[in-house]
Amino acid sequence: MNRVEGSSVYIGRVAELLPQLLTARRVIVITDSNVDRCHPSLISSYEHIVIGLGEQAKSFATLERVYTQLMDMYADRSTFILGIGGGVVTDITGFVATTYMRGVDFGFIPTTLLSQVDASVGGKNGVNVGGYKNMVGTFSQPQFVICDTTLLSTLPDREFRAGIAEIIKAAIIADSSLFAQLESTDFTQLRSNTSLLASVVEAALKVKIAIVSADEREKGLRRVLNLGHTIGHAIEKSSRVYNHGEAVAAGICCVADVAEKKAQLAAQDAERIRALCAHYDLNSQLPVPITQLLKAIRTDKKREGDSLHLIVPIAIGEVRDERLTFSEVEQLFAEN
Ligand SMILES: NC(=O)c1ccc[n+]([C@@H]2O[C@H](COP(=O)([O-])OP(=O)(O)OC[C@H]3O[C@@H](n4cnc5c(N)ncnc54)[C@H](O)[C@@H]3O)[C@@H](O)[C@H]2O)c1
Ligand SMILES: [Zn+2]
Repeated sequence: MNRVEGSSVYIGRVAELLPQLLTARRVIVITDSNVDRCHPSLISSYEHIVIGLGEQAKSFATLERVYTQLMDMYADRSTFILGIGGGVVTDITGFVATTYMRGVDFGFIPTTLLSQVDASVGGKNGVNVGGYKNMVGTFSQPQFVICDTTLLSTLPDREFRAGIAEIIKAAIIADSSLFAQLESTDFTQLRSNTSLLASVVEAALKVKIAIVSADEREKGLRRVLNLGHTIGHAIEKSSRVYNHGEAVAAGICCVADVAEKKAQLAAQDAERIRALCAHYDLNSQLPVPITQLLKAIRTDKKREGDSLHLIVPIAIGEVRDERLTFSEVEQLFAEN
């Protein structure tokens, strides 16, 4: 079994790994309708609950429906809950499993590139409240996560690209050879070469796992994973143009620009970051004016008093966590 060191994350085929990892007598799968349609043989072998699609499904309404269905199915504390889907499914599954009957065991089979390298790993889950993302949730680790890159063959190109943005993020944070590997391959090769994709997924997972194991509850180090997300979340909030990964890529380019102007990041490295995003057709331009984004950042419910943490790239493979007041942030981006 290819287990990523220091974690319960496995890379390989579901058909081989699942029978070895799943020992529970009763398993109930939570998935969404796209995954149910694209992978019918995997889903239909279990009792399952299908949730709605997209970010709107990360809601209290979904939670209530899932809890009720679990009760109707007489799920008890020995029932194992298996989330099969993208980040929306794994976030809902993690929260449901942690709270249903005060907690049951659970595992994930992430089916988007983004959820394989990011959302399913790290033990965070959550739902949105009143348009604000992930305001309610828990920290709680699944028994296992199985990343099977063959499941990604049915993923639309746009969703695949969103996952690449998070891999670029991981590379900038802590893995310059992953960055170089991404430069030397391209979208088509990554989509078509399963073993190449598995090696890239593994490298990105190693970055996330190392950071998360050092700071499981996001007291400090884990914040570096928010590279590109301050601006990225503001883009998602202010415009419906970009999906999460696309917004994060634009956010990364925006902080790289600022870091370059402040001479914190070499011009050549900033250019490599912009060029890599462009190489994967990830737009480095902001789809909404920076003033509107700054307004969204100011009203962010997760802010800490009058300041926020901005993660700044200082080299390929190295970032710095800077605590700045809103006025400093505004000044920084306004000058840009
Ligand atoms: N908990 C965390 O640490 C964490 C980290 C990052 C992101 N997230 C959350 O993850 C969510 C985004 O995840 P996502 O990008 O996976 O979105 P998603 O779950 O909405 O999936 C994207 C789309 O792909 C479809 N899909 C999934 N797998 C498929 C497959 N194999 N074939 C065809 N279609 C498929 C889905 O139905 C959906 O339409 C956000 O809500 C974000 O907040 C959580
Ligand atoms: Zn993200």
